[in-house]
Formats: sequence, C-alpha cells, structure tokens
Amino acid sequence: MKRITAILLIFIIASSVFPAHAGELMEDSGLLLLVNKNHPVDKSHKPLDLVSLGHEEYRMRSEAGDMMVAMLDACKAETGKRPVLVSGYRSYNRQNSTFNIRMNKRLAQGYSYDKAYEMVSYYSAPPGTSEHQTGLAMDLSMNGTLTSAFAETAQGKWLRDNSWRFGYILRYTAEKTEYTMIGPESWHFRYVGAPHAQIMYENGWCFEEYMNALLSSPIYKAVDGVIYKVERMASLPFKNDSIVSASSDNMGAYIVTSKIRPLDFTWLIDGVIPKLKQLLIENTK
Ligand code: DAL
Ligand code: ZN
Repeated sequence: MKRITAILLIFIIASSVFPAHAGELMEDSGLLLLVNKNHPVDKSHKPLDLVSLGHEEYRMRSEAGDMMVAMLDACKAETGKRPVLVSGYRSYNRQNSTFNIRMNKRLAQGYSYDKAYEMVSYYSAPPGTSEHQTGLAMDLSMNGTLTSAFAETAQGKWLRDNSWRFGYILRYTAEKTEYTMIGPESWHFRYVGAPHAQIMYENGWCFEEYMNALLSSPIYKAVDGVIYKVERMASLPFKNDSIVSASSDNMGAYIVTSKIRPLDFTWLIDGVIPKLKQLLIENTK
C-alpha cells in the first residue's frame, strides 16, 4: 500500500512539474495587431526585424517587406508600371512630430484645438495609433505624392483588387470610415499575411470588422485544398504541427491560425452549420 502511495505521489509531482503539454509556446508574430484610435500601441513599441527597402523611410518588418517587393514586381508585370514607396515604418516620436506640425498649421489657420484635432486626425493617426509604428504599413504612389488621384490609376486599382494575394489589405476605404475612424487613403496598405487578407477581401470586411467577427466564432477558409481555422484565444497556444501562426490582436487576446486535418470535421460544425442557419434565418424573414 505504501509503495502504491509513493508511486502515486511521484506521479502527481511529476505531472505538475512536466505537464502533459510541456513544450514551447507559439511565437507572437504581431502581424495581426489591430492598431487604431481605440487600440493604440505603446510609445516604446518598435519591431525588431525592420529591413530597409532602399531608404530609411522605406523600412518594414521583414516578411511584410518581402511581400511588398513581390507585390510591386507583380504590379509592374501586370500593369506596366511599378508604384513608388513613400512612407513605411515611423517611430512614435516621428508620428508625434508629424502630427504636431499638422496641428500647428491648423491652429495657425484659426481653428479651435478640437476642430484642428478632428481635421488632422482624420488623415494622420495620433501618435501611438498609427499602423506605421508596427512596420507593417506602406504608403504607395505613382509620383511621390499621396492624393486621392492614386485610386484612379491602373496601379491603384490593381493594388485594391490584388493586394490580398500578397497578404496586404487596403486599410482605409470610403465605405469603412465608421470603423476605421480614418478618411479614405487609397495609398495605405497594411500587411496581415495569409489567409487573413484574402478572408477580409472576399467578405468585404475592413480589419475592425474581421476582428469583430472573430470575437463571436472561429472562421474557416479553404485555400488550395487546405482548410484554415482562424480563432481567437486568451493566451498563446503551445506549438503543434497544425498551428501555422499566432499573433496578439492588441485587444487582449491572440489570433491563432491552424490547418485543419482532413478528418477533423469540427469545421463543419463550427463553420458551415452556423452559416447555413444564418442563411435560413435571412431567407425566412
Ligand atoms: N495616415 C495614416 C492613418 C497614419 O497616419 O497612420
Ligand atoms: Zn499610411
């Protein structure tokens, strides 16, 4: 009896020291950080893997930079012209001084502080709320200026329709200002990676809407015969063969993307059935 108790004790101690899921946690890629006026990043936030795309002003996080180059090459191949880079990574301090210069200009024109703030912050994110601080955003142009005319160029249109193929989203559109709180910017592209850019593009969702959708249920997406499950988790999961990536959402949780095994039918229960139900409800209204 004593021996059994001792074995049991050793087992209990061992299982608390070596939990069943002992292993490494997934790395936080940070690629899905939602950054906007309601979800700022810290003043000290600075990506560690910035690479230069030819100039100090054109720095981006490594993966975003590689995909930016691939996207611009494809744009040139498919439209005949390559857009130029205008502005990539910006530090908190840099955003702060740009914002203040614009504020001072408006104040000098006689606007009240509140009116000036409203006008400036419609196109320039207040410091701490700019995606440029994440190293995942790039402003593009055909002539070096950032104007709405870019939307009318063949390249602006191509980027709007094709950037998802390279993991990018057109972040600020006229239709979504109520969510983004930023005016339309046909030149600002944000890297989120696959399959997220494709999911947002196909559903017509802006980033805020995608994050809202993930609050209520996982999202499933088939790409080239692989089913991806995207879900929100309270903490970073342990590494395993099916998890592709994980990223903080800057809203207190993590977005985890996994590949679903062919015999795992949870996608049918979690993904397809609620959609069918919703269709049924909509059609019987
Ligand atoms: N122009 C965008 C909103 C920024 O300042 O980040
Ligand atoms: Zn921008």
